[in-house]
This record gives sequence, structure tokens and C-alpha cells, in this order.
Amino acid sequence: MKSNLKGRSFLGLLDYSPEEINDLIELSAQVKKEKKDGIFPRRLENKNIALLFEKNSTRTRCAFTVAAIDEGAHPEFLGKNDIQFGKKESVADTARVLGRMFDGIQYRGFKHETVEGLAMHAGVPVWNGLTDAFHPTQVLADFLTIKEQKGYLKGIAFAFIGDGRNNMANSLMIGAAKMGMDFRIVAPTSLFPQAALVETAQKIAVQSGASITITNDITEGVRGADVIYTDVWVSMGEEEQFEERIKILLPYQVNADMMAKTGKSDTIFLHCLPAFHDLNTTVGMEIYEKFGIDAMEVSNEVFESKNSKVWDEAENRMHTIKAVMIATLQD
Ligand code: CP
Ligand code: NVA
Repeated sequence: MKSNLKGRSFLGLLDYSPEEINDLIELSAQVKKEKKDGIFPRRLENKNIALLFEKNSTRTRCAFTVAAIDEGAHPEFLGKNDIQFGKKESVADTARVLGRMFDGIQYRGFKHETVEGLAMHAGVPVWNGLTDAFHPTQVLADFLTIKEQKGYLKGIAFAFIGDGRNNMANSLMIGAAKMGMDFRIVAPTSLFPQAALVETAQKIAVQSGASITITNDITEGVRGADVIYTDVWVSMGEEEQFEERIKILLPYQVNADMMAKTGKSDTIFLHCLPAFHDLNTTVGMEIYEKFGIDAMEVSNEVFESKNSKVWDEAENRMHTIKAVMIATLQD
């Protein structure tokens, strides 16, 4: 790996250069191949990793756990009701204690300022496993998947559909700007991203050759797309908003009609997951009973289609998170 990232936190892609992002993706591909070949170099032997979760997780938690163990480190899960964090002990004090015992800290939770506060006080690398504002480790997995499927990132036409102001939309917009993509957010106007963040992305785009388009027009937004990406309409912590979101986002469901509007047959479908594509969940069933719809952000047909690469993408969470831990911790 060309970049030296040792000791750095990974809070968001704004802090990382295109070269550094590219190096992390290349290291991810390398560690993926090593694992497939049965090679386990144990680069993080004797390291201890704290996994601090205020919100639920399947992929991120499992990715950090498996990646740490593969590399010889010890991961310790600290759930929101397990420790004094936030209730009896401040972010700064918790960070200083964890930093004395652990070599790296993963945080998933609500306020982005919390992960920044941890990083400020811990004295060891802190990795953002999702906040209300950003989900940068997911973007690395998404970009690795695109590279595997399409061979390159610069110039990829990428359309994010749905809640255009959530943590995924924000992180993908910054990542795409850095990597020189033709990036579109296709969303109802009321769910457009914050103007200041769009401006930041547009400034980065001038350097990288990216283009950033924010539109509510589906036909224009998905035309020529190499990647169609969506996420849940209601993110963790916003659960009271289902009715309003369904009302405004139903026309933005990714379905066969929308995929056809790309004009390409090899457009891939990505989703960070979990996804509401059928009725096999309690929430999916509740929504069906209340609103009569059997899927939300993506139809089951598209989700299960050959163009859908969501399982590769989910697996790549582990390889990319492993790369982040190695790059920031390895002696
Ligand atoms: N995509 C993702 O972060 O999944 P989890 O919420 O299961 O970690
Ligand atoms: N936007 C989603 C992403 C889940 C991985 C959420 O925050 O719930």
C-alpha cells in the first residue's frame, strides 16, 4: 500500500484523498484474494478492537468481528446498554478510557459529533461504522463491488435513488466526487441533500472531473446509469416517518420500469442493506397491512435479478473494513 495511513481515524471520505481511497480499495481486493486463497497473514496480532454500537447492525458488526479475528486481533462488542457511555460517562471520558485499553475503536450511532469527539480524545484510530450523517465504510465496499463488476470507477454513471439526504446519499456523493464519477441523486425535492454538502462535492468534482447532479426527474436521473443504488426510505432513528416517506417516495421505487429507463442491460443494482423488498420481515408486513405495498425502495424482481450484486457488496464490507483496520493499525 502506497499511502501511509497508520494512526489515522476513518470518520468520513472528506478527510481522505482520491489516492488514499484508491489504495484502500486495492488493499481490500488484495486481502479478499488472500482469504480466498487461504492465506491469513495475521497483521493485527495482539491488537484489541472496541466495537461500540448505539444502533443495530448485522453487516458492520460482523464485518469488524470477522476481519479482526482473521487478522489475529480481539474484537470486543460494547452495546448501548452494556457500558456507561452517554449515561454516566461523557464521550470524552469514555474515549480516554477506551483509548488506554484498545488499539482501535469502531463507533456506530446517532450524532456525527460523537464519532468526532471519540476520535479527538481516544488517542487511537476511530472508525465510523455509521452515523446519522455518514456511512463511509459502506462506500468502500460499494466502490470495490463496482470495480469488480465494471473494472473502473472514474466516469462511472452512478444514480442514487430515494432519500437523497441520508447518510448513504451523503457519503456516496463525497466518495463519487473524489473518484471522478458521473454522480446523480434522484429524489423528491424535499429530500435533496443539504446545499452546503452539494457545494463541497461540486468543488471536489472540479478537481477530479466528476459531475454532481441533483434532480427529482427519474427519466433524466437514471439515463445511461451503470449503477442504480438505493437505500431504505426511513433510516434508523426516523421510524415515525414511514407514512410521509412512502407517500413521497413511492414513485422512486427501483423496479423493472426504472431499470429499463437506464437504456442499458448491464446496469448493476446495489443496496447497502437491509432492504424492504418482500414481506418476510415484521416491519415489511406491518407496512403491507397499513399501506398495501409489498415492497418499498426496491421491487423483489430487481432485488433478486441477475443485475443485483447486493451479496457481493455485503461480503465486501468485511474485506474493506479489514483493509481500513490494517492500514490504520498495522505496525
Ligand atoms: N449496510 C450496513 O451497514 O448494514 P448493517 O446495518 O447490518 O450493519
Ligand atoms: N440509511 C440507513 C443505512 C443502513 C445501513 C440507516 O441509517 O438506517
